[in-house]
Amino acid sequence: MGQLGKDFLWGGAVAAHQLEGAWQVDGKGISVADVMTAGDVNHQRGITDGVQPGNNYPNHEGIDFYHRYPEDIKLFAEMGFKSFRTSIAWTRIFPNGDETQPNEAGLKFYDDLFEECLKYDIQPVITLSHFEMPYHLVTEYGGWRNRKVIDFFLNFAETVFKRYRNKVKYWMTFNEINNQANYHSQFALFTNSGLQIQPGEDAEKVMYQAAHYELVASAKAVQIGKQINPDFKIGCMIAMCPIYPLTAKPEDVLKAERAMQTRYWFADVHCHGRYPEWLLQYQKNQHYDLDITADDLKELAAGTVDYIGFSYYMSFATKDNGETTLHYDEEHDLVPNPYVKASEWGWQVDSVGLRYVMNWFNDHYHLPEFIVENGFGAVDHVEADGQVHDSNRINYLRDHIIQMKKAVEIDGVDLIGYTPWGCIDLVSAGTGQMSKRYGFIYVDKQDDGTGNLARIKKDSFYWYQKVIATNGDVL
Ligand code: BG6
Repeated sequence: MGQLGKDFLWGGAVAAHQLEGAWQVDGKGISVADVMTAGDVNHQRGITDGVQPGNNYPNHEGIDFYHRYPEDIKLFAEMGFKSFRTSIAWTRIFPNGDETQPNEAGLKFYDDLFEECLKYDIQPVITLSHFEMPYHLVTEYGGWRNRKVIDFFLNFAETVFKRYRNKVKYWMTFNEINNQANYHSQFALFTNSGLQIQPGEDAEKVMYQAAHYELVASAKAVQIGKQINPDFKIGCMIAMCPIYPLTAKPEDVLKAERAMQTRYWFADVHCHGRYPEWLLQYQKNQHYDLDITADDLKELAAGTVDYIGFSYYMSFATKDNGETTLHYDEEHDLVPNPYVKASEWGWQVDSVGLRYVMNWFNDHYHLPEFIVENGFGAVDHVEADGQVHDSNRINYLRDHIIQMKKAVEIDGVDLIGYTPWGCIDLVSAGTGQMSKRYGFIYVDKQDDGTGNLARIKKDSFYWYQKVIATNGDVL
């Protein structure tokens, strides 16, 4: 029976744009996250034409981690973190994205941040692109629809690989690259790829082109990274929401299979270094004349990833709708699953699904896995005694860790670590809210921007501290 190794990377995860704030400090440029306004469970976040006065842009301040990180890292160390996943804001290093020379002040910030982590033996786990590409690359180049962006990204990747070659071992290229499988979602296209669909354009085709360039960029980055430091471990990052068939009706099962293929072909390319047959046939049937060269295919084959980083929050379900093409449209083809309950934000909580996906990844790709996001977004209340009793969050995490351990101990999955999402409260990516909280540490900031940013340890802080101290034995 396997077990969690003594080097298991317990930790927590965040992304630069959701907590750093300091959006214009030390030469930082405007990122796609900086032009996104606040929304809520019923209203999508707006995307404005540049930064316009009079709007609420919650990422501009975040939780001011840029200035407060020593205090926050100290709290992570107190919980016993072995790892801390964050991203490097591309716009701190290359403010517009297309410069040739990096911004030294931005590089220095991450030097200091990583030093602070290493001081406590906390390994930084770094995502290169986490929903924060330079906005200039959107306005001037159309985002990832443009092949030129591959070189801009590689310049960024090479710069940070070289600079942090002795400080960072675990890297990931593109956060949740497969969100854009839902090509109807303006949010997914913009945050993944800086895409804004123009009238008359086929969003699905544009998405396939952009995703191809990103996958080529990822494969080239893997190769460059390995030359800089052969000990680097460079992974992909997949948003894993398994799509179950609603019933055992064969047509439902077939539909769910195509739905899985549609959401996870990105992982096929990252891990196998080639496109799956069904997708090549689909693109042919659609008459998509994509710019995919023979050289690109060689790069994809040569730059496969070392591990699968993935997020897991919820599961989906789908059913047959009579279409023989099986075409899966995430906006319209999902149905509620009567066997699981949903969070206040409608996310279907399913801890058993975590064990299922760990097995699914293992059987498909036979690579080590790293759960780099998992968590429960919920409203928290500071009680009269100044405490936050977040038992619902503890229950969610406990249930998931139990399933995670089964996947390792009973099913033999090779798991590198577990970094629950939003280990300190931060701005929600999907809604821009502060009230959708995930943290072990409460931050006094409200949706309207008020609050003194003070940090409070929640009940889950002490619970997770014990989990780490016992390597997951005491839950
Ligand atoms: C993932 C992202 O989609 O889920 C994070 O990688 C995000 O950036 C997290 O914050 C939780 O989603 P949300 O919308 O609740 O913030």
